[in-house]
Amino acid sequence: MRVGFYQYKPVFGKVSKNLKKVVSVLSNIEADLIVLPELAFTGYYFRDRKEVLQHAEDPTKSSSIDSLIALCREKKFYLVSGFTEKRKDKCFNSSVLIGPEGLIHLYRKLHLFNTEKNCFDEGDTPLQVNTVMDCKIGMMICFDWVFAEVSRNLALQGADIICHPSNLVLSYCQQTMLTRSLENRVFSITANRTGLEKRPHGELKFTGKSQIVAPNGDLLYRAASQRENIYIMDIDPSNARDKSITAQNDVLEDRRPEYYSI
Ligand code: ACM
Repeated sequence: MRVGFYQYKPVFGKVSKNLKKVVSVLSNIEADLIVLPELAFTGYYFRDRKEVLQHAEDPTKSSSIDSLIALCREKKFYLVSGFTEKRKDKCFNSSVLIGPEGLIHLYRKLHLFNTEKNCFDEGDTPLQVNTVMDCKIGMMICFDWVFAEVSRNLALQGADIICHPSNLVLSYCQQTMLTRSLENRVFSITANRTGLEKRPHGELKFTGKSQIVAPNGDLLYRAASQRENIYIMDIDPSNARDKSITAQNDVLEDRRPEYYSI
């Protein structure tokens, strides 16, 4: 399976410009699954909820999602992308799995980071794994990495690949994701953004270093911190189905949840 990510710098508030750029880059690649960053088309550093609602879209009526579905049909690939979602008067930091058949699944970020709490509603969708091309895809968004329960839950549901749209500003995640992959014996694809986002209320610098990690914790590829990068490689998702870490240890079967059901 040919999987990868696109690391870039969205321009804040310029949804159609960002979308056009992504579509143009993805039109020139051959792949099966590509992961894009968190809030991939709006930018990240919103002032407040009102500003989110000005830029967010309802994915069931979104021209952005429609054009990404059209691209998936044309290129016969799947996309996981961060998405600034509006539903009635609520707004969510979401992620979509889309393919030639349309919108397959939408996940709403469970663990909001810092000032996101002033801008978004808390996610209310359970964690879920979806099968595409015989591969089980789980999604989590950026700061969800801190909560080991998220990747563990996706692994328990059978995820082969954890797709991880991100807008990382702290420096710890990329290294920690080696452990998230290793402890669950899953592939992970973290698609981060680059650049400085300057807003009237402050500025944030994103850390790049998007990466693909193997089920044994090996770093298969890591992008540079501040360079735009589209990267695609071949992986065998079935490698994530062997959960043994020694001849006598299986990371899922050896759990003792009766002693730590928290
Ligand atoms: C983050 O969750 N965007 C840090």
